[in-house]
Amino acid sequence: MSDGYTLRQLNSEIDDILAVSSDHRTIIDAARPLLEKLLKQPDLIPEAYRKPHPHKYAQYLLYKPDNEAFSVIAFIWGPKQTAPVHDHLVWGLVGLYEGAVQEKRYRRIDHGKGAEPRFEVRELSEVTARKGDISFVYPPDYDIHGVSNPFDEVAITVHIYGTDIGKQVRNIHDPETGQMRDVITRHDNDIPLYS
Ligand SMILES: [Fe+2]
Repeated sequence: MSDGYTLRQLNSEIDDILAVSSDHRTIIDAARPLLEKLLKQPDLIPEAYRKPHPHKYAQYLLYKPDNEAFSVIAFIWGPKQTAPVHDHLVWGLVGLYEGAVQEKRYRRIDHGKGAEPRFEVRELSEVTARKGDISFVYPPDYDIHGVSNPFDEVAITVHIYGTDIGKQVRNIHDPETGQMRDVITRHDNDIPLYS
């Protein structure tokens, strides 16, 4: 990035937040204005990384510190591309950089041993997020969502998570059956775009 707010500055400010708090919601509330600043940087995502893949959203690691205390990721959503219903098992913020996406929220409900089916993945809400909007996730109760781009334009989201999310074991949930399976969603690039 040329001028403005840099990922180095973000790193220093997130370090300050993490030094004084470990509560997910407190971290999210403190990190939200930092993501707001990042979303306003017009050259945050280099041109070469703004194109979606043909069949799946693209996932680029923008930045992570050596200790992997957090990571900053850009997702490029082609028209009609979608991510299955998933959790994160770590705090995270989702910012709309360009275009719009639809986010559906879910809660996993355990009906108890012997119930058939035992688990239910219930849809709670649906919102359309547009440029500048910020959403968030944190375990255990506010962690499951599905994201899609039902629109005709490319959408770009920028996320901050409390670990390297490209290494994090987490889960995909099936709202039809209540079943879940673990997954690791790796970045499309090995070396972060920014250091
Ligand atoms: Fe997510």
